Parts: sequence; C-alpha cells; structure tokens
Amino acid sequence: MKRFARIIGTGSYLPSKIVTNLDLEKTLDTTDEWITARTGIKERRIVTDESTCDLALEASKNALEMAEISPSKIDLIILATTTPDKIFPATATMLQDRLGASCPAFDLQAVCAGFVFALSTAQQYIENGSFKNILVVGSETMSKIVDWNDRSTAILFADGAGAVLISSDNATGIKHSKLYSDGSFLSSLHVNNNGINDLGTIEMLGNEVFKIAVNRLSDLAEETLKDCNMTSDEITWMVPHQANIRIIKAVAKRINLPMSKVIQTLDTHGNTSAASIPLALDVGVRDGRIKKGDMLLFEGIGGGFSWGSVLVEY
Ligand code: ACO
Repeated sequence: MKRFARIIGTGSYLPSKIVTNLDLEKTLDTTDEWITARTGIKERRIVTDESTCDLALEASKNALEMAEISPSKIDLIILATTTPDKIFPATATMLQDRLGASCPAFDLQAVCAGFVFALSTAQQYIENGSFKNILVVGSETMSKIVDWNDRSTAILFADGAGAVLISSDNATGIKHSKLYSDGSFLSSLHVNNNGINDLGTIEMLGNEVFKIAVNRLSDLAEETLKDCNMTSDEITWMVPHQANIRIIKAVAKRINLPMSKVIQTLDTHGNTSAASIPLALDVGVRDGRIKKGDMLLFEGIGGGFSWGSVLVEY
C-alpha cells in the first residue's frame, strides 16, 4: 500500500523584539515608504540572546502539541538552517537532546529553500517505510549574518522558526515535490566569509535575485501543476517563501492564482529564510484559513541558488 507523508502538526515561534521600518530609518539611509513599497515588509522580529536552537525548540514543541505526539515517538529530526549555532554538532542534535527525543537528527542547508528541501527529504523516508514520524523544522537567526549598515539587505532579513510533524498515512499527504540547484549563481546571493573562522555577512545583487526568483518560481509552479495534471484552480492556498511581496504577486499572477489564495506574512515576519514557509503555514492553520483536505503549494528559492516546490493535501 502506498504511504503518504502527512502533516499532522504545525508550530512556530518568533523572538519578542520587534524592529519596525521606522526603527531602521534611525540607523540607515532608508524610509518606511521605500521598504513597504519595494518589499511589503513593515516590521520583523530579531533575537536578543536567543539561539537558532532556542527558536527551533519552541516551534517544535508547538507542532508536537498539535500533533499530540510525544518526543519519544519522533523517528527523525531534520532541521533546515543557514545559521546553525555551531559548526558542529548539528543544531538538530542539540534540538533532539533538548526535546528529549532519541532519534537520528541532522541539519540541512539550502538557505531560503531549506524547508522545501527538508520536507521533500522527509517525504522519501516516509514513502519508503523507513520512518513513521518525522519532525521537520526551519529555524534561523539571520540577524547574525546581516550587515546592519547595508540598507539593501538589512531591511529584508529576520529571525524565527517554524516546524511540522510529518506522519505516515495511507490516504493523503504530500503529492509531489521537485528540487533544483544551480551553483553558478553564487555571486548573486552569498555570504562573503573567508574560510570557516570568519562569519561574514550577506551580499546580494537584489535586482538580479528578484528577476531570477520570479522566473524560476513561476516556471516551477507551472511545472508542478503540469506534473500533477492539475490547474491552479485546484490549489486552495499557496504558502510561498516570504522574500518580497512583488515576487509573490508576480508568481501568483503567472499561474492565475488570486492573491486571496496566498498566505502572506511578510509584512510582520520579513524574510526568515528556511523558517518562512512553516511560519506562514502555522499562521494559516491556527487562524483557521487552512483546513483539512486543502491543497497547499509550498515554493521557495534560496541563495546561490537552490529552489523547490512541495504540493501537499493538508
Ligand atoms: N532604502 C532606500 N533606497 C534603497 C534601499 C533602501 N533600503 N536599498 C536600495 N535602495 C536604492 C538603491 O541604491 C537604488 O538607488 P539608485 O537608483 O540611486 O542606484 C534604488 O534604491 C533601486 O535599487 P534596486 O536594487 O534596483 O531596487 P529594487 O526595486 O530591485 O528593490 C530589493 C531592492 C528590495 C532588494 C529587491 O531587488 C528584492 O527584493 N530582490 C530580491 C531579494 C530577495 O528575495 N532576497 C532573498 C532571496 S532568498 C535567500 O536565499 C536569502
């Protein structure tokens, strides 16, 4: 019998410190009007002393509570992050210990596409029968790799975590996933560190990233629908990576999906990289918009570049 990877719990967590566009006006040559018009972001959350693992732990607890699964029942933890707390061990193993789980755990790095890469990986383990319950987390402290004097990137990135508990189901769940990478785009969006003793900061050719993101994500959305023999009318919600409202609108337009069917959290979350999709998903689930049986399209693209989609019957 075919096994499906079904989402049975979602959770999220945001640090309490809010940094508004007006706050950024005080330290950068920018304005609330410019940031809002060009990105859709009004405010973002930034850690004070919390780690990536701290954020992941709270989001995971919330997902486990919704799923009514105890940590001892988790078979695998996959943590998508660009901002691990240490070079080793993996932040996922620290999360495993703090949750009180006793399963294998590993980090996965695909920047803002990290959550779709992690979800697609979890899907394979469920479908081949290796594991029953998998915790998939996206957690980021992007503020640690932002150059706070660079107005072209400091306005975009933010901190937060989202988590989902995936469980084996014989009727419904993930229908399709597709992943891509093209490392020739390294100079478009990367961290400029020099070896492992230097953390570095994000460097981005914003305009170029913008165009590539719109083209790749639009092509991928069309390809995903074609692979599944579906039209966009059958999508209940698109839950995209939250990078820029103009990117999201352009992709939605290309596949004829009204913005009323898009979960948008950019205005208050900013770009939380691998955390943005599970954060937006949890918001949509908890405010009642996303319901059992809904068809969800997740899409994300991340630095350097990696991009992917997951289509799931919730
Ligand atoms: N405030 C005011 N002016 C600014 C700011 C700012 N914060 N940042 C740039 N500008 C200026 C530029 O200097 C430029 O001035 P000039 O015309 O005098 O040279 C002007 O605004 C236009 O700059 P552009 O870069 O062309 O502006 P654009 O409309 O492209 O918006 C932005 C910039 C918001 C960065 C956009 O390109 C974008 O969102 N790109 C995609 C970024 C993205 O999604 N990154 C994340 C990818 S996922 C990941 O892996 C991390």
